[in-house]
Amino acid sequence: MSSFKRTLITSALPYANGPLHIGHIAGAYLPSDLYTRFLRMNGESVLHICGSDEHGVPITIAAEKEGCTPQQIVDRYHELNKATFQNFGISFDYYGRTSSPTHKETASEFFQALEKQGVFVRKMEKQLFDTEKKMFLPDRYVKGTCPSCGYTEAYGDQCEKCGKSLSPSDLIDPVSVLSGTKPELKETEHWFLPLGEYQKELEEWIGGHKEWKPNVLGQVNSWLQSGLSDRAVTRDLSWGVPVPHPDGVGKVLYVWFDAPIGYISATKEWAENKGNPEEWSQWWKDSGTRLIHFIGKDNIVFHCIIFPVMLKAHGEFILPDQVPANEFLNLEGNKLSTSRNWAIWLHEAIEEFEPDLFRYVIASILPESKDSDFSWKDFQQRVNSELADVLGNFTNRTLTFIERFSEGRIPSEITFNERDHEALRAIEEQKVKITQAYQSFKFREAVQETMHLAREGNRYFSETEPWKTRTENPERCNATLFVSAQIAAALSVLFDPIMPTKMRQLRSALDLSDEMTWQEVNSEMLRSGSKVKAGEILFAKIEDDKIQAQLEKLNSGSSTTTTMDENAGVSPISDVIEFDQFLPIDLRAAKILSAEPVPKSDKLLKFTLDLGIENRTILSGVAKHLSPDKLIGKTVVIVSNLKPRMMMGMESQGMVLFAEEPDGTLKPVLTDALPGSNVK
Ligand code: 2FM
Ligand code: ZN
Repeated sequence: MSSFKRTLITSALPYANGPLHIGHIAGAYLPSDLYTRFLRMNGESVLHICGSDEHGVPITIAAEKEGCTPQQIVDRYHELNKATFQNFGISFDYYGRTSSPTHKETASEFFQALEKQGVFVRKMEKQLFDTEKKMFLPDRYVKGTCPSCGYTEAYGDQCEKCGKSLSPSDLIDPVSVLSGTKPELKETEHWFLPLGEYQKELEEWIGGHKEWKPNVLGQVNSWLQSGLSDRAVTRDLSWGVPVPHPDGVGKVLYVWFDAPIGYISATKEWAENKGNPEEWSQWWKDSGTRLIHFIGKDNIVFHCIIFPVMLKAHGEFILPDQVPANEFLNLEGNKLSTSRNWAIWLHEAIEEFEPDLFRYVIASILPESKDSDFSWKDFQQRVNSELADVLGNFTNRTLTFIERFSEGRIPSEITFNERDHEALRAIEEQKVKITQAYQSFKFREAVQETMHLAREGNRYFSETEPWKTRTENPERCNATLFVSAQIAAALSVLFDPIMPTKMRQLRSALDLSDEMTWQEVNSEMLRSGSKVKAGEILFAKIEDDKIQAQLEKLNSGSSTTTTMDENAGVSPISDVIEFDQFLPIDLRAAKILSAEPVPKSDKLLKFTLDLGIENRTILSGVAKHLSPDKLIGKTVVIVSNLKPRMMMGMESQGMVLFAEEPDGTLKPVLTDALPGSNVK
């Protein structure tokens, strides 16, 4: 299929400091698994590598918080995440970990190889030092104000508000996360990777990859345009791979230096386990290997700039051929947040619903070109109206009919009419489209095109009315059952990368081998006379109460894996702010004069409010929660000095405040003060 001899697929190594959530799955792991399964079914030589990223400051901070060792933290989450991936059907060939001896050795050798070639620059730098804890404060050990956007909770490596990449000394008013004290600047020496020296080579290499996704090229080109500078690859920490140099005592490799080398060390361990220890090198060094990194958008710079520079500088390795990074998945309209427990934890979710249901729904909404949103209602809707009503209904009625009216065997001696031919042609046509979608990393499209075939099958079955022809024209009925069974057979393979467990069940019902290949998909996969059995239905509908329970769990933050306040779902109090940070917000009492829905919007209500000195128009996204007439005449609290915003062609001049109850219900913040009164 491709000109390469083999494909090495890597999925970003997740940090072993917490459980996996659906955002992780949508970013890297489901796409990589879909692609891997697709290639395997096409008979390609493919290796899928992943593992736990066990170094880095978030892990040591988690250990300090819990009063245990970093090793205890990573042991716990390595095992949990490895099992979760397996239960979710992510088919890694090997799941390694960066605290393994092979990894330490591989990362050290990599560093030494660069050191020997004189790649690094060593520089003395002034860095923040916690005088109480007597240690330097790299990355996330410091918090402070972002110099770019003014966010006061920015970390020393990145501002989570504006996304700017920072170094600890960039922060305004830095504070040590460990002691809460103000750190001092102190000199320390580090090894730097001089990225700028590779800028030209990188530009040429990236320039040769016009086929990369626009979201990836956009980020990479913006880094290149701002000019690459030296990046420190060592840190003053004790948890990590020790710097293999006599002058590196008390220092470790920066986590983002050692983590991607983890792909290489995991490949080595895989080869060793296989009894062919030398095999790893062909996957990393032979130009016949196609290397593909599946990642989320926050990892782009590391996989498209820094790791490629490391690989180039080393000299013996191939470079990635594709980095199909995804954007982020939101949840119920809000950013996923592990600290606020706004997440669906995978190991919990798959105890409630079968993994294939999530695989289908998440594959349908993958954030391939922009952020996308998972909502429980949409999950229910897709399972019920697509999986149950279309795919499940089609396969079920086909199988049941054959079982009941054709003695459980594929009918024989069929004379096809034009409608039958048309339905059979859909198999070949859809197969071409689905294949192209997988090959170009458009997995949402692959799902749609596969479901399109199920819809065709369902429509064909309904139109040809076998329940009538069964008595009126048995030959026609046989044709319907024969053709429908062929479509079901094709679906059992074409849907396999997305729903491997369900499709195995379907193949077993159709008496097809478990090892069917993509090449075997055609319009005559089942021979006349071969047996089928209806068995259990493939997809049951999800009842409202199951979804409601998930929504309640989410809104009350009652997920067991959290640091959430145990008090009946009340979210924890946000971080402390200074009094003068509150002062600029001008809160006022305002009386609602009118409230009406905004045409063409199911979310917005338009309020006209009396502010004592003037009337204001404010648009709020609360239409789903509140009925307008009940609000008229009430006096509420508004933010009166919020910059006006255009919404649906109208200017919104402030914000009405609502309290959100744990189950998501919104209640206006009422007052009986005169309109215009200050609220402080
Ligand atoms: O962002 C993350 O979760 C990182 N642990 C990904 C590392 S990918 C690779 F380089 F190891
Ligand atoms: Zn910022």
